[in-house]
Amino acid sequence: MIDPHGGTLINRLSNDHACYSSCKLDIELDGMALADLELIAIGGYSPLDGFMGQNDYRSVVENMRLASGLPWSLPVTLPVNEQEAALLSHGDKVSLMKDGVHYGCLTVTDVYTPDKAVEAKRVFGTDDPGHPGIHKLYNRPSIYIGGPVIVTRRPSRTQFSEYYLTPTETREAFTRKGWSTVVGFQTRNPVHRAHEYIQKTALEAVDGLLLHPLVGETKSDDIPADIRMESYRTLLDHYYPAKRTMLAVFPAAMRYAGPREAVFHAIVRKNFGCTHFIVGRDHAGVGNYYGTYDAQKIFSCFSKEEIGIQTLFFENSFYCNKCGSMGSSKTCPHDEEDRLILSGTKVRTMLKNGELPPKEFSRPEVIEILINGLREKQKQLKI
Ligand code: ADX
Repeated sequence: MIDPHGGTLINRLSNDHACYSSCKLDIELDGMALADLELIAIGGYSPLDGFMGQNDYRSVVENMRLASGLPWSLPVTLPVNEQEAALLSHGDKVSLMKDGVHYGCLTVTDVYTPDKAVEAKRVFGTDDPGHPGIHKLYNRPSIYIGGPVIVTRRPSRTQFSEYYLTPTETREAFTRKGWSTVVGFQTRNPVHRAHEYIQKTALEAVDGLLLHPLVGETKSDDIPADIRMESYRTLLDHYYPAKRTMLAVFPAAMRYAGPREAVFHAIVRKNFGCTHFIVGRDHAGVGNYYGTYDAQKIFSCFSKEEIGIQTLFFENSFYCNKCGSMGSSKTCPHDEEDRLILSGTKVRTMLKNGELPPKEFSRPEVIEILINGLREKQKQLKI
């Protein structure tokens, strides 16, 4: 089994409810912070055992490494407002809540003011407030607190709860299945033919595929996670070998940080026990902020040993009418006009305009679920 990042799988889940009695303040978490809290607790973010203090934060923003030197590409921070920050100092405990529910406690080691302009530029590669990650960054409170956490409760789920597996659980599942090599696949979209093509190409070389869709907060025009989950289940049932595929979810919020998020996605999947990770075209990208293959090039900033998980890079894949199959410029000799260029964005646009994406774009069973699911959501919005 592959080692977790930093060597130890973190577990900050605890039954110690006594922690709440010594808390100085209740801190209300946003959706992103609650998702990060859960991922810290279950070891998805190993070696992080809490929200980042100033040294780790600065080092990550500037050098894509924790203060220890270990690669880590995205800040994992807990923003609080100025009034809250003024009451806190080193050693204080705060209770972490959302909507009236206590999830855990943090012991404060750091209270610090980030330079968000620097964070935006370094992490997202732009200072454009129109970038959804930067919009989110500036909308969060202005002071960060850091320190180790314990978590007494994971968020409850009414739907698809059986897919919220911890890294320990996915690792155990891989062992039970007898998989020694597992490729992880990140997506925030329904799985289309290009995704299927690169997944199955990878699956030719490894024992198993972990389809690991991100189901935390995404921007409003992405397809909602519940509809996507239906589509993943149906797709796996119809087109994938059950013995070689597994579905579980990654509850983090999407940052849209392109290259830096690709590194983060890879490291986290290593913690979940994957030995390989797919990075295709414009991974975790949005708009035109990143070059098509920037999310692959960034891995050259690290040695293979320090990343640990093996990256599998894929060219832009498409359906070629002349080949009558999926391919990429590495495998198809034909011209642009013979190729159907596939992307999640294109499918979303077609669905929005009431057009049916062709079967070369997406499996008909998937399209049916997307159309019905989106129609249902629209009805609910109108009620
Ligand atoms: S995201 O999480 O990276 O934003 P998305 O669903 O768009 O999700 O992509 C999932 C993975 O498939 C990423 O690694 C992405 O690079 C890759 N990918 C998406 N479309 C293509 C394509 N047409 N050709 C090659 N790789 C692709």
